[in-house]
Amino acid sequence: MSEYTAPVPGLDAVEIPEPGAVTLVVPTFNESANIRQLLHHITESVPERMPCEVLFVDDSTDDTPEVIREAAEDCPYPVAVLHREEPVGGLGGAVVEGLKAAGSEWIVVMDGDCQHPPSLVPELIATGERTNAGLVVASRYIAGGSRAGLAGGYRVAVSRGATWLAKALFPRRLHGISDPMSGFFAIRRSVVTADALKPLGYKILLELAVRSRPRQVAEVPFVFQDRYAGESKSTAREGFRFLRHLAGLRTASPVARMIGFGLIGASGFVPNLVGLAALTGLGLHYVLAEILANQLGVAWNFLLIEQLLFRDRRAHRRWWDRLGRFALLANADLVLRIPLIALLVDRFGMGALAATALALVMTFVLRFAGTEALVYLP
Ligand code: GDD
Ligand code: MN
Repeated sequence: MSEYTAPVPGLDAVEIPEPGAVTLVVPTFNESANIRQLLHHITESVPERMPCEVLFVDDSTDDTPEVIREAAEDCPYPVAVLHREEPVGGLGGAVVEGLKAAGSEWIVVMDGDCQHPPSLVPELIATGERTNAGLVVASRYIAGGSRAGLAGGYRVAVSRGATWLAKALFPRRLHGISDPMSGFFAIRRSVVTADALKPLGYKILLELAVRSRPRQVAEVPFVFQDRYAGESKSTAREGFRFLRHLAGLRTASPVARMIGFGLIGASGFVPNLVGLAALTGLGLHYVLAEILANQLGVAWNFLLIEQLLFRDRRAHRRWWDRLGRFALLANADLVLRIPLIALLVDRFGMGALAATALALVMTFVLRFAGTEALVYLP
């Protein structure tokens, strides 16, 4: 069970926005056992002079929406449920629906399982008003905060690793955000660029920080509580989604996508060499072995590129069509390279090494442009 402290002292001195200016957006997936407790805590800890409305965005397959409607009758604040029949984007997709639907100046996003203490809501808003920030993050990783409710060393390590990775990939956008994995934050509606968001899974704060780019960010410490009832809905699948989400955020610009293409291409040497060793070991002639092993590298590259770089552009063609075109380009690249080097050496008098390097760069750029235009565009 969670413990809650009273709303922050000294709050009376802070200018609070107009009544009804705060919407609490709560994503729920089968949380019927937590709803009453959560609404009770909200009623208890959000002062009457800062009336809020609660908007549940629900993807449940159980009776959560009915439980919410019943519990709402005992809640002094307006409570609404937006139930999605066809959920897309998981938790993040649900939150974005809530951000779009909320009409208030401030939106606070919090979990439905009581891990995020509602007693912090007034402080989040007050801090935003005081510092003029567009985004106020409740952080477990600044003085006064803790991750008490993150059960087990394994989850702590994963959370730390994910935070480190995100901060390494987005040093500028996440500057001043110690806990980009937090699911508890307040954001001004004017900051949210709803149409530019492509949420994927749990890390909606990361999505907002990177794509909506709030100019000023503040943080407030908080203690991550234990879940009140039930279990976390996060699975190993969510971990893969997070990596895809990171890749999607990072490769939004063409230059970054080209670098990603190059890195994936370089990683293809590993299956290529392993395949070559295995096939020559089986007694195959090395030329034939090289041709076959190269296809292994092509398949490896195709899978990674599909998953990490062009995920949102796959709909134009069937998978076998894309694979066929991709393999054709990759093999054309190999076939073209030798004559190109010969041309550069014989006709333009270049040294063999320089010619090889130039040919590699040229065929790489051609292959990237070709992949974009011929495989992933209609
Ligand atoms: N609508 C909707 N759709 N809600 C969802 C979905 C979904 O697909 N998946 C989860 N939720 C809801 C849950 O019902 C809960 O209210 C909230 O989102 C958080 O889900 P949990 O499954 O309890 O998440 P967690 O405790 O493992 O992770 C939380 O803490 C992490 C930090 O360690 C979340 O706040 C994460 O965003 C956060 O990174
Ligand atoms: Mn939780």
